[in-house]
Amino acid sequence: MTYVIAQPCVDVKDRACVEECPVDCIYEGKRSLYIHPDECVDCGACEPVCPVEAIYYEDDVPEQWTDYYKANVEFFDDLGSPGGAAKMGIIDKDHPIIAELPPQAE
Ligand code: F3S
Ligand code: F3S
Repeated sequence: MTYVIAQPCVDVKDRACVEECPVDCIYEGKRSLYIHPDECVDCGACEPVCPVEAIYYEDDVPEQWTDYYKANVEFFDDLGSPGGAAKMGIIDKDHPIIAELPPQAE
């Protein structure tokens, strides 16, 4: 099981969650962050600190954002398990469902 970052993160990228994650498994793409589904230890520390409530336990993702489970998983298809986000910096891509969204920030 894993936590999932959903649409409210897109173009916001507050990054408060990154500071809380004990295993450094929240990776930064161009427009959103993504939780590695195999590296996440389900501690729940990230979820309450997101100011836009973008983070959900996978069973609790609101219906309109259920695709974001797939987005967080598929983001890592070509990356495998890097074992730490800090050394990766900003990864120069987004999952297609995020890349195709119109600008979200006000
Ligand atoms: Fe995004 Fe919220 Fe983290 S906006 S970067 S999920 S704190
Ligand atoms: Fe990390 Fe725990 Fe969230 S392992 S991604 S802070 S649930």
